[in-house]
Amino acid sequence: MEQNYSLESVGDTATRDAVEARPDGKKVFVKTYGCQMNVYDSQRMSDALAADGYAPTERIEDADLILLNTCHIREKAAEKVYSELGRIRQLKQERGALGRETVVGVAGCVAQAEGQEILRRAPAVDLVIGPQTYHRLPMVVKRARGGEKIVETDYAIEDKFEHLPAPQRKVVRARGVTAFLTVQEGCDKFCTFCVVPYTRGSEVSRSVAQIVAEAEQLAEAGVRELTLLGQNVNAWHGEGADGREWGLGELLFRLAEIPGLDRLRYTTSHPRDMDDALIAAHRDLPSLMPYLHLPVQSGSDRILKAMNRKHTGDDYRRLIDRIRTARPDIAMSGDFIVGFPGETDADFEDTMRLIRDVTYAQAFSFKYSPRPGTPGADMDGHLPEDVKNERLQALQALLLEQQRGFAASLVGRKLDVLLEKPGRQPGQRVGRSPWLQPVIVDEKAGEIGDIIRVRITDAGSNSLFSEPVF
Ligand code: SAH
Ligand code: SF4
Ligand code: F3S
Repeated sequence: MEQNYSLESVGDTATRDAVEARPDGKKVFVKTYGCQMNVYDSQRMSDALAADGYAPTERIEDADLILLNTCHIREKAAEKVYSELGRIRQLKQERGALGRETVVGVAGCVAQAEGQEILRRAPAVDLVIGPQTYHRLPMVVKRARGGEKIVETDYAIEDKFEHLPAPQRKVVRARGVTAFLTVQEGCDKFCTFCVVPYTRGSEVSRSVAQIVAEAEQLAEAGVRELTLLGQNVNAWHGEGADGREWGLGELLFRLAEIPGLDRLRYTTSHPRDMDDALIAAHRDLPSLMPYLHLPVQSGSDRILKAMNRKHTGDDYRRLIDRIRTARPDIAMSGDFIVGFPGETDADFEDTMRLIRDVTYAQAFSFKYSPRPGTPGADMDGHLPEDVKNERLQALQALLLEQQRGFAASLVGRKLDVLLEKPGRQPGQRVGRSPWLQPVIVDEKAGEIGDIIRVRITDAGSNSLFSEPVF
C-alpha cells in the first residue's frame, strides 16, 4: 500500500459546492483525482458551469454532465480513470434508455497526456479538456451537447494566463475558512520520473495584481487561511508593486498585509528555488505557518543525479539547516520515491539516513512508477515489485515513527488552532494546528473561523486532542 498522499488523498470525493440548485436546471458531477491544484481547478470549473445553469450534485446518477478531473502522476492514478469511465458508460446507457442525455468529460493531466486516445479507449467520453484550456470549458460543453466529440488540449503559452473567473462571495463562504489560490503553474525541471512538465507545460506565474485581487476577495468572504499553489510554487516570480522583480518571499510579505488572512502556506516547493527572501519570510512573517513541504525524493547522490534533481543530499541537509536557523519551530514534510531504476540497497540506505538526519513531521512516499514518455521509463535497472514493496515498507515505518514522535512531542504544549468545521462527535469542532494536524476542540471554545489557544492533551494516530486555554 502506498501511503496516502495529499496529492491523491482528495481522490474519490465529489467536489462539494455551494451554488444553489435551480429547480429544473441541469446538474454537474465533478470527481477530482490528484493534487490540490486539481481541487482548485475543479472548484473553478464548477463555478463557471454554475453560471451556465449547471447546479453541482454529489449523485453521479443525477448528473447531466459528468466531469472527471484526472491525475497522471503514477500508473495507478491514471488507470483508475479508465475503470471509472467503464462504470460511467453503463450509467450513460441507462440514462439514455430513459431519454436523458449525459455529457461525459475528462479534464486534468490524463486529458492533457492522452488526448484523442481517451476517446478511442472510452467511447462514453464526449469531451477531453486539458488544464491549460479550462477557460474554454463552457463553450466546449455547449458544443458537446450539440453532439460533437471534442479534444481541447492545444494551447498557446498566452492561454496559460487565461483563467476562469474567481468564485462569488457566497460560494467562497460556503466552502469554509481555508482556501487554495494558484499562483504558478507548470514545471521546467524535468525530473526524469515525472510527467508534470508534459501535462502542465512550462512554468508560468500569475501577476501580483491578479493574485492580490483574488486573495483580497477570499479574505473578504471570510477565508482565514490561504494556501498558495503551484507545481513549483517557489519558482513564482513577477513584477512587484515597487517595480522590482519579486519572488515568492516578497509575494508572501505583500499577502500578509491583507486584513483577515491570518495564516499563509504554500505548496509544493523545489529545493533549488528556496531563496534567501523566502527563508527570510519564514523568519519574519508570523502569519507564514511553520510548516514546509520540500520534497527530496532520495538521499542518494547517484540516484538524485539520475533523477535530474540537480542537488545532492548534503545540499538539501544544508538548506534545511538554514531554514531551521531562520524558523526553529518549522516542521518538515517531504516526498520520497523508492525503487527508481538502478537504486541499490546502499542508495536506499542513503535515503533512510537522510530521513533520520532531517526528521519529518509528515511525508509521502511512493514506489517508482514508470511513466510513458519520461526518461526514467527507458533507463536500465528497473527493480522488481517485491524489492520496491520491501523498501517502501521500511521507509514508511521510519516516517510513521517520526510523525508519531512529532505529534507526541506536542502533548502538554499550548498552540493556536484555526477552527475549520464541526467534528464527527456532537459537541466537537475540528481545527488545524500550525503544522497541519487536525485538532479536536470543544465546540464551546469558539466559532468556526476563530483562531483559539488550546493545550494539547493527547495525540491520536490522525489527530490531536485538546482543552481550551482561557
Ligand atoms: N512539483 C512537486 C510535486 C510533483 S508530483 C515536486 O517537485 O515535488 C508529487 C510527487 O509524486 C513527487 O514529489 C514524487 O515524489 C511523486 N512522483 C512523481 N512521479 C512519480 C513516479 N513516476 N513514480 C512514483 N512517484 C512519483
Ligand atoms: Fe515533477 Fe520534478 Fe517538476 Fe516536481 S520538479 S513537478 S517532481 S518534474
Ligand atoms: Fe496529478 Fe497532474 Fe497534479 S499529474 S499530481 S493532477 S499536476
